[in-house]
Amino acid sequence: MTTSGPKTQELLEASRKYEPDCMNWQAPVVWDHAAGAEIWDVDGKHYIDWTSGVLVANVGHAHPLLAQALAGQASRLLNTFDFPTPERLRLAERIVKATPAHLDKVVFLTTGSEAMDASMRLAKRYTGKYEIVSFWGGFHGRTFGPMSLSGIPKIRRSYGPLVPGTILAPYPYCYRCPFDRAHPGCDLFCLKFLDETVRVQSSGSLAAVMVEPYQGTAGFVFPPPGYLKGLEAWAKAQGILFILDEVQSSFGRTGKMWALEHEGLEPDVLVLGKGIGSGAPVAALVTRSSIISCLERGEMSSTLGGNPLSSAGALAVFDIIEKEGLVGKAAKNGAYLKAKLLALKDKYKRIGDVRGLGLVYGIELVLDRATKAPAPDLARDVVLRCVDRGLMVGKLGLHGNVIRVAPPLVITPGLIDRSVGILDEVLAESR
Ligand SMILES: Cc1ncc(COP(=O)(O)O)c(C=O)c1O
Repeated sequence: MTTSGPKTQELLEASRKYEPDCMNWQAPVVWDHAAGAEIWDVDGKHYIDWTSGVLVANVGHAHPLLAQALAGQASRLLNTFDFPTPERLRLAERIVKATPAHLDKVVFLTTGSEAMDASMRLAKRYTGKYEIVSFWGGFHGRTFGPMSLSGIPKIRRSYGPLVPGTILAPYPYCYRCPFDRAHPGCDLFCLKFLDETVRVQSSGSLAAVMVEPYQGTAGFVFPPPGYLKGLEAWAKAQGILFILDEVQSSFGRTGKMWALEHEGLEPDVLVLGKGIGSGAPVAALVTRSSIISCLERGEMSSTLGGNPLSSAGALAVFDIIEKEGLVGKAAKNGAYLKAKLLALKDKYKRIGDVRGLGLVYGIELVLDRATKAPAPDLARDVVLRCVDRGLMVGKLGLHGNVIRVAPPLVITPGLIDRSVGILDEVLAESR
């Protein structure tokens, strides 16, 4: 359905020729350049961005200060391996000062998966135990360790045997509660069930629990208030590490700098990625000295982790977020966007649920509100029609039926009006 220009068609042909199908599943668009919350493809067609790449471009695409920082650094120094650099040290200091006071040490890595993998290794070394509890619907990356902890069947399927010692428990996906209960009347039954699941399954070697503040890949599933604090208390009571995967929820995405602020969480290990570099490849594991001192010198390193280029980029991201007040903007413009999405929910019966915070929302499409039967084909159709009309959007979710709304934090109310207008037109046609 999407009408592609000639250059796009030519490049998509090259993609089919040289790239495997497993890489290609997005709408058929070849990006050329982007600025702020807008994108242009290789044929000059314009799009409003609801993807931020994949929740990466928090400060907006091609921000001039980020571009300058990267260019300046590239002409000075690109790699030192583990030798410290002023950029890496300034970034470490900035992260330690900006995160909760008990976190005082940072290890830099290159991707979210690598950092999540490092958090698993740390938990095992620190506790001397090997079992890690994670959640149905969870996603922590595609390398083998995090993949083994994923609760998304299609991520794990056909890759077994996976890393041993994983215990999966239900996440509070309230719209589709696995226990058919409703919050707050449920009294967070899922937490009691978690305790029982672990009691039954654990061989007595529990090291950690790993959780996302909201589940991204599962369809932007947000836990009810009190769940994460309750989980943290449970982890403390078990004497295990509480690992919080903020790879996609940090750097202002939820209308706070860190999603942990919504409930005052104090994780033992906090993992950051995506928005930290807003395009510069960097991830970070943040923890306490008393935990990470269990590792020997040189035991946690990475060829490109904390390289000067990425560090300079991440420092620029901090500057931009502060100077432009992007966390406040994400909260304010996010509330404006949410009100508009909820109005669409009132208008279209195919929208079963709208959920989110700040500038991250999931719109869950269903065939029928009463049965909640997922509508993945409709979601695919809506995505393609939106892209055709100039709204860059994707879908995700355990059932492939959730429209992903995660624009760069610089999106303006004017662009919000225009983009929601496009979705409105498309939904009107799909009734
Ligand atoms: C919550 C979460 N953790 C980890 C990752 C893995 O990050 P990366 O793709 O940078 O390896 C992702 C990526 O989508 C994510 O959403």
